[in-house]
Amino acid sequence: MSETNWDVIEEVGGEACMEKLMREFYDRLFDDVFVGFFFRNSDKEHLIRSQIAYVHANLGSRRGTYEGPSIRKAHEDLPILAGHFDRRHTILTQVLDDFDVPEHVQKAWLSLDRAMRPMVLKQGKQAREG
Ligand code: HEM
Repeated sequence: MSETNWDVIEEVGGEACMEKLMREFYDRLFDDVFVGFFFRNSDKEHLIRSQIAYVHANLGSRRGTYEGPSIRKAHEDLPILAGHFDRRHTILTQVLDDFDVPEHVQKAWLSLDRAMRPMVLKQGKQAREG
C-alpha cells in the first residue's frame, strides 16, 4: 500500500479491526486510574463510533466525514490537565503499537492527536477555576 495514498480504516486492517482497536482504546481509558473518572457518564459505544469517524475524517488521503462537535466544544466542560492529556496519549501510543498499525499511520495519528492538545486542555485562569 502506498504511503501517500491511504485510508486509515484500510491501513489498520478494515472496519472490524478498526472497531476492535478503538474498543480496546476506550476499554483502557475507561478503566484507567488517572483518566477513567472523566468517562464515568459517557456512552462508550458512541465514543467508539465518533472517534473512528474523527480519525477517518482527519487522517490519510482518502477520508470519511465527521459530523460530531468540534474537539474544543466536546471537551469544554471537562477539567483536562496536561497529565491527563499525556496519559491518554500514552495509552493511544500503546494501542496503536499493540495493533501493529503501520509506522507512517502511527506517526500521522499521534501527530494529529498532539495537535489537538490546546483544544482539550484547560489552561491558565480556566484551569485554576475548574
Ligand atoms: C487529544 C485528542 C482528543 C481527541 C481527538 C478527542 C476526541 C473526542 C471525540 C471525537 C469525542 C466525541 C464527541 C462527540 O461525538 O460527542 C470526545 C469526547 C470525550 N473526550 Fe476526547 N478527545 C481527545 C482528548 C481527550 C482527553 C485528553 C480526555 C480526557 C483525559 C478526553 C475525554 C473525553 C470525554 C470524557 C469525552 C466524552 C464527553 C461526553 O461523554 O459527553 N478526550 N473526544
